[in-house]
Amino acid sequence: LEEKTDKIPSRVKLNVIYDGKTATYDVRQGLGLQAIVLKNGLPIEFDCRKADCGICSIICQTDGFAPATETEIEFLKAMAAGANERLACQCRILHDSTIEISTDW
Ligand code: FES
Repeated sequence: LEEKTDKIPSRVKLNVIYDGKTATYDVRQGLGLQAIVLKNGLPIEFDCRKADCGICSIICQTDGFAPATETEIEFLKAMAAGANERLACQCRILHDSTIEISTDW
């Protein structure tokens, strides 16, 4: 019998592009991006942690995160953010994702 393939895997890959290099992290599915950033010393800053300041803005090349909440969508709209921008403090990883961090903000 074939195994069901629609199950969400328990480990997912997060590719992070910054300073001209790509680092790949094997992380637990469902984890908040904030926890991954803090654990691995990635250069994303957080302040409000509630979709209210925009300092944690990232570009998603592949967005495998849980869908944005109304609050995040509203804030990104107000920031005139690009279609693939997300707020890292609001992102929970569900599937393999690739994000870009700008380190010169
Ligand atoms: S830390 Fe303020 S929007 Fe994410």
